[in-house]
Amino acid sequence: MKLVFATNNPNKLAEIRMLVPSSIEILSLKDISCNEELPENSDNLEDNASQKAYFVYDNYAYNCFADDTGLEIEALDGRPGVYSARYAGEDCVAEDNMQKVIGEMQGEDNRDACFRTIISLVIDGKEFQFEGQVDGQIIPEKWGGKGFGYDPIFLPDGFEESFAQMSVQRKNEISHRGLAVKQLIEFLKKRR
Ligand code: IMP
Repeated sequence: MKLVFATNNPNKLAEIRMLVPSSIEILSLKDISCNEELPENSDNLEDNASQKAYFVYDNYAYNCFADDTGLEIEALDGRPGVYSARYAGEDCVAEDNMQKVIGEMQGEDNRDACFRTIISLVIDGKEFQFEGQVDGQIIPEKWGGKGFGYDPIFLPDGFEESFAQMSVQRKNEISHRGLAVKQLIEFLKKRR
């Protein structure tokens, strides 16, 4: 079975290819010659993931799954949430986003936050969604240099290392995306 993962992110593709049963061939957007930007204009993760997966299914006739992730900070009413990638502006980089969060969280006692990933799978026109969440704290300064995005300022509950101090393997075991992917894999295995 061929299944498109609506991404060209090599890390995400490698991770999922290692985990799915060999009967499932994971294709990237490039593999199906999809070079257009996928729609992602909703104000919530669920609809964004859904829009991307259905776009590929409807326009390229492949079964497909898509993910969408956000960092939700309690004291900031859930921001940056669905706007995590471009929180500090259209052309910003991860450092700008982290500095914006660090600034907004200055003097804030409640540092609770979570990363949440939604995966939307569209098979034969039917949609299934999977969710992964990891709770933690926003720390006031950056710890570690691994990972990407907001990893250096996120301390997952029960750990003494930020996401940016952990090995990729350790992070995958406990992360939002890792948990959502696990559910997707279990579903695909059962469906075989
Ligand atoms: P995406 O939906 O996976 O593209 O994630 C959207 C944005 O959320 C990214 O651009 C990052 O800023 C942030 N993000 C997603 N996953 C992670 C993670 O595992 N660690 C840190 N930041 C993340």
